[in-house]
Amino acid sequence: MTATIINGKEIVASVRDGIKQEVHRMANEGRQPGLAVILVGNDPASAVYVRNKEKACHEVGMYSELHRLPEETSEQELLTLISQLNVNPRINGILVQLPLPAHINEETVIDTISVHKDVDCFHPINVGNLMIGKKGLLPCTPAGVIEVLRYLNVPLAGKHAVIIGRSNIVGKPMAMLMLRENATVTVCHSRTDNLPEIARQADILIAAVGRAKMVTKEYIKPGAIVIDVGMNRDENDKLCGDVDFNDVLETASYVTPVPGCVGPMTITMLLKNTLEAAEHAGPNVPAR
Ligand code: GUN
Repeated sequence: MTATIINGKEIVASVRDGIKQEVHRMANEGRQPGLAVILVGNDPASAVYVRNKEKACHEVGMYSELHRLPEETSEQELLTLISQLNVNPRINGILVQLPLPAHINEETVIDTISVHKDVDCFHPINVGNLMIGKKGLLPCTPAGVIEVLRYLNVPLAGKHAVIIGRSNIVGKPMAMLMLRENATVTVCHSRTDNLPEIARQADILIAAVGRAKMVTKEYIKPGAIVIDVGMNRDENDKLCGDVDFNDVLETASYVTPVPGCVGPMTITMLLKNTLEAAEHAGPNVPAR
């Protein structure tokens, strides 16, 4: 058996198409969803991510503005900018690209973003809403993973989802979304004993540890679906995931490529959140 490589491009195109149509419909009402992206400092990887987010906005017809701030920006300057964007009717979503320079407190920054414009779903109130199953903005990467599985018609109810990684951005919210889908969830991490053995129990294995090619065929139950959230550089400086892609091909039933699936899907969910925030916000651009 050889795994089917999940066609990320096709799924992304399909979801973005739906978003584009909805943005078009809003334009007819004289409204346009708007995203503000804030990048502090000169991290090259962050610069690439931010550019991709802006590009995606424009592709679906959304308004976007990029605020590039120098590395030495003070925390107060950043908080002031966020407060202005919080009340700017042109802006429905605010994304502060992480990581921030060490002298800026990430928590304070996230707490300052309006709950209604928190398209990353990082604000404690939104995280709490997710935890208790209240409707609201969903965290982009985990929501993207669910969307991929939905597109493939993978049944999740009753299935065992094993998540490797316990970050606030992926592992923990992924567990919440999988529970919502009635999956049975195990969260593992770098300190888990007998990790391959636990991973081998997964019907759906989600790798989000941040270690290049760590997940090999010893981690895979025959026929399992493998979702690779990792984004690393291998020994030749080539982009790769947390999964040793070639090694698991013979064992898994489906596997996501890196790059080309979870990354662009995450950006797609960011667009979806911005659209949803705009729909709840009411008029912004004055109708002509
Ligand atoms: N840095 C790495 N991933 C993310 C993300 O999903 N959102 C933000 N804001 N920063 C990130």
